Formats: sequence, structure tokens, C-alpha cells
Amino acid sequence: MAAVEDTRRNLDLDTALAEAERRYLDANPESVARHEAAKASMPGGNTRSILHYAPCPLTVVRGRGCRIQSLDGAEYIDFLGEYSAGLYGHSNPAIVAAMTAALDDGVVLGAPNLHEAKLAAELCARFPSLERVRFCNSGSEADLMALSLARAVTKRGKVLAFEEAYHGGFLIFGHGGSPLNVPFPMVMGRYNDIAATQAQIAAHGKDLAAVILEPMLGAGGCIPATPGFLEMLRRETARHGILLVFDEVITSRLSPGGLQAALGVIPDLTTLGKYLGGGSSFGAFGGRAEIMDRFDPARPDCLFHAGTFNNDVLTMAAGYAGLTEVLSPAALEALNARGDTLRAALQATFEGAGLAMTASGLGSILCIHFRPGPITRPSDLEGEDSRLKQLFHLAMLERGIYLSPRGMMALSLPMGDAEIDALLGAVAGFIEDHHPLLPTA
Ligand SMILES: Cc1ncc(COP(=O)(O)O)c(C=O)c1O
Repeated sequence: MAAVEDTRRNLDLDTALAEAERRYLDANPESVARHEAAKASMPGGNTRSILHYAPCPLTVVRGRGCRIQSLDGAEYIDFLGEYSAGLYGHSNPAIVAAMTAALDDGVVLGAPNLHEAKLAAELCARFPSLERVRFCNSGSEADLMALSLARAVTKRGKVLAFEEAYHGGFLIFGHGGSPLNVPFPMVMGRYNDIAATQAQIAAHGKDLAAVILEPMLGAGGCIPATPGFLEMLRRETARHGILLVFDEVITSRLSPGGLQAALGVIPDLTTLGKYLGGGSSFGAFGGRAEIMDRFDPARPDCLFHAGTFNNDVLTMAAGYAGLTEVLSPAALEALNARGDTLRAALQATFEGAGLAMTASGLGSILCIHFRPGPITRPSDLEGEDSRLKQLFHLAMLERGIYLSPRGMMALSLPMGDAEIDALLGAVAGFIEDHHPLLPTA
């Protein structure tokens, strides 16, 4: 309790943040030590940039259901949900059984196996745009393959993507982009800006191979595309012979057929990843047969798509078990309804406290912002004080809630009312402790 009283005395954000960091470091000495030791062999002790946060990331040693345990022995409710890949929670028994059986039959078989076509058929049955699908090892790879394919089949060079979008490690468009991006000639559009994007498509039409977008910006703040925006993109890409690519790596979980089914806008190509591998490393891209069949090895003009682990038996078995034994449409709809209820409860909490804060997202994917709503474009997030996000993150960790440093959450199937209530309680506690520091309505 003393720590909380200390915080309440702080009316200055920098001081509150410094105190929160100090308490965090004091509470997690084992994680700090492991992180420091890891620096000897990995740059900054890190091999996955998104998992780094100041002052030092927690080390997580195990997970069960929707809870994880840190190296320092503390338990957290896992609202990060591995950035949406953790939809099944940790070690779902049906998925563990399928992976164990696959392991018993041997891995690295070096041949087509019994699992891959079953998972492919299941995906094609679920997602309306998928007539054919191919597997790879990550969403990043799926996006790169989909765009490379679009450039090969259209014989055009340019790609239109959107500011603040994230399509994996080679196609990062947040915060001005990345020097590591693949050097495709890009046209950058503004998300949900119908008139400006339509003009760009008209201007670049004959050179554009693809328009790629997330039907809801994920890393860019959980901002859903408006139906009118998607309808315009579908109409205008068809008019100009451009392939429309939906990156549903995150949004595929927002309805049994992905957001494409929920919104009735069917792209030419779709990319998938995350939870669809049942918790194992996964990526997939697919779409219309006439496009995807360019990969048919029996064709004289076939395109070559490689990847030692494209049909990894563990991933294929885990993904198939997840879809057929765990993730019924009803289970997915219930999870998304839970997310909608949580989002409404968070928004009511912010409004009740007179705060200019917003819970954005759709269904089981949420993000908390220290900006007033409605948030319909990335520009609505400009001016947000990143120190508030950091303070919120540390305050949630202190209260046993594990979530992303940017305030993003992805619910998992094992979560029940107790976990949702715990999150709402933690947010209420944060507001009570720090109200004078927060933006008011
Ligand atoms: C929309 C979107 N596309 C692609 C990716 C990349 O997927 P992966 O991390 O599996 O490479 C991500 C990852 O977060 C994503 O959110």
C-alpha cells in the first residue's frame, strides 16, 4: 500500500514514471539480471524488437490457460495474448495432444505429410477469398510473398500501402517507416481517407500491382477500416486491374470468416498468421485459384516458393487441431462478444471519470489510448503523450495485468469473467492513483 500512496502524491508525470520504474526494477531483479546477461550474446539482450520495453522486459518462464509466470515468481493475467497469436491460451490440451502425436511420428520428414492439406482445406472453407493457400513461417513472410506474387502476375512494380500500417518486419509503415523495409516502389496512402486514396489509385493505376491493407489497423492503434473505404478499394482496384490484398494476420480472428466475411468485401489475396498455427510459428497467403495456381509446380510458367518449414508437422497439426477441435464459430463469436463488452466497460469507465481516453478496436482486439474518441484515423492519435502509455503499462504490470506497452490487448479463449473484472479493477485503480496526470474530457 505504501507504494500506491507514494504514487498519489505525484502530480508530475516524469516523477510518477520514475517512481513506477523504480518499483518495477525493485520487484523484478531476476528478470533484470537475465536481461543484462543476455546482452553479451544478443544486441540489447533482445531478438524480437517488439518485446523490448523500458526499463527492462519481464522474463516469462511459463504459461497455463490465460496466465503467465515471470522469472521473479509473479503471476500475470495474459492480456497481451502474444499480439493475437495466443488466442488459444497457453498449452490448450487438444493442441498439445495433436503436437505430441505429430512429434511421435517424427519431425523434419522432408516430404508432403498428412497434415498440410487438411489445414489448407480448413482455411479455404473458412475464409471466402481463399480458393488456394500456401504456407510459410510468419505473417511477415506471407505479406512479402503476397506482394511479390502480385508484382509477378500483374507485371507491375508499385504497391500502395497505408501510413501507420504494419505488414511484418519488411513492411513497416508506422512512424515514417523503416530502413530495413523491402525496396518496393511504394505509394503511401492515408487510412480511411476515401477521396485521397481514390485519387492515388487513379494517378498510379497502371503501375500498381497491389493495394495492401489491414481491414483494421493493428499496430497502428486498432483502428477499423470503414465499410465505405473498403468498398471503394474493392471497386477501384478491380477497375484498374490491381490486386487487393487483405492482411488478416490479426483480423482473421474477428469473425469465423475473418473481417472479409464480416464486412462482405472479398480481396484477391489474403495473408494470415498468428493463432492459425495453433501457437507454433505460422504464416499463410492465398486467394483466387487463377492467381495462386502460378505456384503449381507442374506448370511450365510456375513460380517457385521455398521454405524448409512451410509444412512443419508441428505447426500443421497444431493449426488443424485448433480450428477443428477448439475454435468453433460459436467459441470465436463468444470471445469477440466478450471483447466488445470489455471495450464498452472500459469506455464507460473513462467517461465516468471525465477522461479523454478511448478504447479502440473490434471484438477481442482492443487498444487503450490517451486521446479522445472517436479514433477513425491514425492522425487522431497525434499528440498522445508516450509517457502516459508507459506509466499505464507499468501500473498494469504492478497490478498483475500483462499487456502490450502500447496498450494493445488480445483476449484468449480461457479468459472468463474473473479475468475481465480483474482488468477493469486494475484500470480503475490506475485512474484513481493518477487522475490528475490524465487528459480530461
Ligand atoms: C497485421 C500484421 N501483419 C503481419 C504481421 C507479421 O507477422 P509475424 O510477426 O508472424 O511475422 C503482423 C505481426 O504482428 C501483423 O500484425
